[in-house]
Amino acid sequence: MKKADIARLGKEDVIKAIGKEWMLVTAGTPDKFNTMTASWGGVGYLWNKAVAFVFIRPERYTHEFVENNERLTLAFLGNENREILNFCGTKSGRDCNKAKETGLSPVATETGNVTFSQARLTLEGRKLYRGKFNAEDFLDKTLFERWYNDQPGGTLHTVYVVEIENIYVND
Ligand SMILES: Cc1cc2nc3c(=O)[nH]c(=O)nc-3n(C[C@H](O)[C@H](O)[C@H](O)COP(=O)(O)O)c2cc1C
Repeated sequence: MKKADIARLGKEDVIKAIGKEWMLVTAGTPDKFNTMTASWGGVGYLWNKAVAFVFIRPERYTHEFVENNERLTLAFLGNENREILNFCGTKSGRDCNKAKETGLSPVATETGNVTFSQARLTLEGRKLYRGKFNAEDFLDKTLFERWYNDQPGGTLHTVYVVEIENIYVND
């Protein structure tokens, strides 16, 4: 794993990478971390900074870790690790050790966060902003109905904006 410049992101089809390849959102330390699959998020420019944003439902165990840590990582494992992503997107770290169950091998970043040796690309970010979606702010109400009202226990996502501080690649 080596560090890369922010320009490396120019080589990515970010919408495809997040939406189709999926990513692991991980927060915590090598001793105590949790990770989950996410396919909603983005990369952009805000407050004159390169940022990423993710959307995490409060009931996810990962939410606790993101809340309690200053930084998080977004790891892209490539399409060859679909089984790992399926597992981490359907099981909770409250009930199992995801790394042990899947063979994910944690790697500490230089700031003490966690990514995985399987990751082809990792973004490491520092939390800048946390917000909550509100039912009354949905301009397209069908989205609220589709993604929240219809899902038992489906609470509205917490939005996190993180400053992209480091990029790591395995290539
Ligand atoms: C393809 C895929 C994408 C997902 N995207 C998100 C997401 O963007 N936000 C979210 O809160 N949950 C998302 N999930 C659900 C979590 O990954 C899932 O609930 C996971 O089991 C949570 O694990 P945890 O309790 O250990 O945090 C996704 C699941 C899958 C399979």
